[in-house]
Amino acid sequence: MTTSQTPLKYLQEDDLSEECKKLVSNLSKEKGWIASYYYNYQGFWLAPRAIQGVIACQQQFQAQDSDIILVTTPKARTTWLKSLLFVLVNRKKHPIFNQNHPLFVKTPHDLVPFLERDLYRNGQVSDFSSFTSPRLFSTHLPYASLPKSVQDSRTKLVYLCRNPRDTFISMWHFANTVKHNHTDTNSIEEVFDLFCKGVTVYGPFWNHVFDSWKQSIEKPNKVLFLMYEEIKAQPKIQLKRLSEFLECPFSVEEENSGVMDEILRMCSFENLTNLEVNTNGKSSLSGTENKIFFRKGEVGDWKNYFTTEMIEKLNHVIEQKLQGSGLRFLYI
Ligand code: A3P
Repeated sequence: MTTSQTPLKYLQEDDLSEECKKLVSNLSKEKGWIASYYYNYQGFWLAPRAIQGVIACQQQFQAQDSDIILVTTPKARTTWLKSLLFVLVNRKKHPIFNQNHPLFVKTPHDLVPFLERDLYRNGQVSDFSSFTSPRLFSTHLPYASLPKSVQDSRTKLVYLCRNPRDTFISMWHFANTVKHNHTDTNSIEEVFDLFCKGVTVYGPFWNHVFDSWKQSIEKPNKVLFLMYEEIKAQPKIQLKRLSEFLECPFSVEEENSGVMDEILRMCSFENLTNLEVNTNGKSSLSGTENKIFFRKGEVGDWKNYFTTEMIEKLNHVIEQKLQGSGLRFLYI
């Protein structure tokens, strides 16, 4: 896929509300990968414009017990799991093996919108009347910063984790693609140091992952923790696990008639990137070019970039942060 020259609206630095400007002026800041600076809000890093959406979402979003929210760090393959969740959960309403399925004409980001980026971006209350139950949303907010109603309700959270090396490489490419000033792309060394310091959008990465992993152990009916690499290794087993967690298990007939294989095929990188909507379309919610969320779609692209020093440095940081926790990343 080719790169985009369109700056993302939610990362633009102008047009901040007075309230947000005041708040941001009191937050600690570090050099950003996309915006000039990232600010530390509630312990995680954000571009200033994004903070407006986060605050509005935290203050105004009213969760329903039947809601399903996908939680990820950026570049965890959110786009892919959005498509999978939509097709899985809506398979009675939108039968698969149907040429008119919404996935073929809408991008996954319009089918499962980001709460803080799409629905509360300008600090406005969104109209949720067109959302039918179960409502599907997505967020990059760390567990502790989710709106209170999400934490207090029976809303189910699906957390997707991707190994930090592939996440970093995917994020580096993405940042250079959408950076406002294209003459000034980030060197890999510079942003790798920032990543290891925890300075990445919604980072530190390890805090984000670890907090949700802990919640998934403490509240297994509320939080399902998935690792992309595990799903890649055993797609049908993990899809079945997801369907059971979401209380929409596959029937024996479905299992025998290839429904799981077809869902996985529909949501595959190959299939999504062959759709006109994802190659030439723009999101109806954010105006963003859909193609920027599809790059290589491969596992292990980190091997093309990581030096031995980088592997050692990141291993060291992660070992220190996750020491004794039992959480392990998979590198395949
Ligand atoms: P790469 O940059 O490694 O190619 P996110 O959706 O969280 O923004 O993450 C984007 C990453 O997911 C990109 O990874 C992108 O290519 C990959 N991706 C998008 N759709 C995918 C799909 N259907 N299957 C697998 N990977 C996908």
